[in-house]
Amino acid sequence: MRVFPETRSISGKLIRMNLLVSGTALVLACVAFFSYDLISFQQSRIRTLAAEARVVGSNSVSALLFNDKEAAQSTLAALSSSPDIMGAAIVTNDGKVFAEYRSSRGGPMRWTPLPPGRRQMNWVSGSQVLLAQQITFQGTTEGTVYISAQLEELGQRARQYLAIAAVILLFCLAAAMMVTAMFRRRVAQPIVALAEMSRAVSRDRDYSLRAPPSRERDEISVLIESFNEMLTQIEQRDVALRHAHDALEERVQERTTELKAANRELEAFSYTVAHDLRGPLDAINGIGFLLQKDYAGSMNAEGREMLENLRRFSAKMAGLIDDLLHLSRAGTTNLERSTVDLSVIAASIADELKTAEPDRNVYFKIAPGAIVLADAGLIRVALENLMRNAWKYTSKLLSARIEFGYKRAGSQIFCFVRDNGAGFNPEFADRLFKPFQRLHTQGEFAGTGVGLATVQRIIARHGGRVWAEGAVDQGATFYFALDS
Ligand SMILES: Nc1ncnc2c1ncn2[C@@H]1O[C@H](COP(=O)(O)OP(=O)(O)OP(=O)(O)O)[C@@H](O)[C@H]1O
Ligand SMILES: [Mg+2]
Repeated sequence: MRVFPETRSISGKLIRMNLLVSGTALVLACVAFFSYDLISFQQSRIRTLAAEARVVGSNSVSALLFNDKEAAQSTLAALSSSPDIMGAAIVTNDGKVFAEYRSSRGGPMRWTPLPPGRRQMNWVSGSQVLLAQQITFQGTTEGTVYISAQLEELGQRARQYLAIAAVILLFCLAAAMMVTAMFRRRVAQPIVALAEMSRAVSRDRDYSLRAPPSRERDEISVLIESFNEMLTQIEQRDVALRHAHDALEERVQERTTELKAANRELEAFSYTVAHDLRGPLDAINGIGFLLQKDYAGSMNAEGREMLENLRRFSAKMAGLIDDLLHLSRAGTTNLERSTVDLSVIAASIADELKTAEPDRNVYFKIAPGAIVLADAGLIRVALENLMRNAWKYTSKLLSARIEFGYKRAGSQIFCFVRDNGAGFNPEFADRLFKPFQRLHTQGEFAGTGVGLATVQRIIARHGGRVWAEGAVDQGATFYFALDS
């Protein structure tokens, strides 16, 4: 199993923190103890040196009084038994060196006069000590003895202490690491387990998981319990949400079924009404035709005009009923798909239009080879509506242009019918496909407003979509996309 970076980091942090704390405490303790020891050692050595200086001083009194340099010299030479004494000198009151001793390692002796009133003094610089002791006889100062020492033992001690401190530090850090490792299991393990579990929850969205409870009663156990409680709440809410969703889905399903049934009933009703109206209307139209043919001569001008209007309106009503029947059929008839050449259909519709109104000057451009898998009857109705619209809405132009084109993209075919006619306000482009919605008045262009609704229904039944682009007086383009 992968170890998360967070997991590593919390254990690592614990170890680092413990090592840092115990290491710092140990170093501080060692520094304090060793400093105290070194300072005490230095002071005790200085005290010994002072005692030696006093002995040398009292032994040199007679040598000074009798100006016996040799005796003074031999008194100083006794200092050779102390290996750390580098040199010594007896200086007279007038500042002259009376006798001098130099160890084999010692250099020339540098001394400083004692300040007035002082009988003894020492100067320390690192491990170098210079000690001055006044020589007095019966209350009179006879000279000063100087001893210079190099406390090498001090350096040696410091080095030893450093080595001891390093070993102690290593042992203590190893011990601290062991203790930390023991505590890490108790402190970090529950947090690591919680982190891994929360990762699994968010990755798998499995809210039934729970973090293992901690044996300790501390903030971590509170955190784990709260987290588990939170998961329980999420789980319960999930279940409630799923139930609500299922119930809603069921209700939507029910309503959809009801709506579909109501819609079917309505469609069947309007189809029956339209279909049943067609028969009597044909009869009225037929009677009107016979009246016009056989009795027009025996009528006055007003009667003939009324008969003419009767025939015109019944023909218009027949057209409207046909449109409604088309719209109704577009939604109900079974689809029988076959390979259909839309270019050929478009060309035949263009011929029909030109034959019906041969005086119009319309240039048709039809791209060949638009082959699709569709219901031949329905797709023809759709294309006919689009081309008839193009024909109708270019009728006010002296010279019009209508184009049928297409483009394939992947498994889809995008077809369009374009004209350079009256166009429409593009803001209302979506309205065009709703039944009885028209953007032009009857005065401008006659129509019922059912054609594009029929087109949309047919294209939708083929699993495609239809949309329009246009601008007032700049023509219109109607697109439809189908799976080819
Ligand atoms: N080629 C076009 N150019 C400009 N406007 C158009 C074009 N085709 C359709 N329209 C607009 O869309 C409206 C709806 O068109 P639709 O074909 O549904 O109805 P219609 O042509 O008015 O009547 P009908 O039901 O007889 O076809 C039209 O009234 C017209 O305003
Ligand atoms: Mg139309």
